[in-house]
Amino acid sequence: MEKKEMLYEGKAKKVFATDDPALCVVSYKDDATAFNGEKKGTIVGKGVVNNRMSNFMFKLLEKNGVPTDYVEELNDRDTVLKKVQIVPLEVIVRNKAAGSFSKRFGVPEGTAFKCPTLEYCLKDDALGDPMINDSQIIAIGAATKEELDTIAKYTMKINEVMVAFFKECKVDLIDFKIEFGRLPDGTIILADEISPDTCRFWDVDTQEKLDKDRFRRDMGGVEEAYAEMMKRIGLGE
Ligand code: C5P
Repeated sequence: MEKKEMLYEGKAKKVFATDDPALCVVSYKDDATAFNGEKKGTIVGKGVVNNRMSNFMFKLLEKNGVPTDYVEELNDRDTVLKKVQIVPLEVIVRNKAAGSFSKRFGVPEGTAFKCPTLEYCLKDDALGDPMINDSQIIAIGAATKEELDTIAKYTMKINEVMVAFFKECKVDLIDFKIEFGRLPDGTIILADEISPDTCRFWDVDTQEKLDKDRFRRDMGGVEEAYAEMMKRIGLGE
């Protein structure tokens, strides 16, 4: 597998072409941003944690019947992925209230829900990723009704698998964001990443935050929290 020219540089990752037109290589950076890029910083070692944890989770999900873009981990920061066209939606699942949900609806952080919530945001930095509902998604053509049904079905399965897995690691999965992509034949598969950047992880006993909220809220101990999550899932020293 030959890593060729850079195709795209995002906030946390770079994507490179390869000698196979169906594949690309993603390279995870230590750069951290929050609040739509307003807050910038570095989390030392984050790229390694996110690459390894995300690959681990994608493999677990594949085993549980969720198709993903994962192909092969090349090293601590670089992974081969199937090339997809990203569906321009942030798909967010919540098991307990936190973050923007608590702010928007006045529900205190940590309040357990009677059932998980599913929400969508339109991926558009210029608009600040606004919340969007099913009928609006279909109306503007961001996804078809069939695609959205598939996305919702996979997302609920992903939540089920992840809640159970993290419970074993003594971690409460509060919420997370995922993204999906389309293969050239239109098949919907899980894409992007699953990491402490994109999930809220709380220690089950102490409710200590073990995720990017420590960076967003200037709580300190950011690198330590990422390293602790690696230990919890069996990938850390
Ligand atoms: O900020 P909010 O409460 O809406 O975030 C919900 C979940 O989605 C959190 O786990 C957060 O880490 C994730 N998220 C993300 N990328 C965004 C927005 C939210 O990974 N742009």
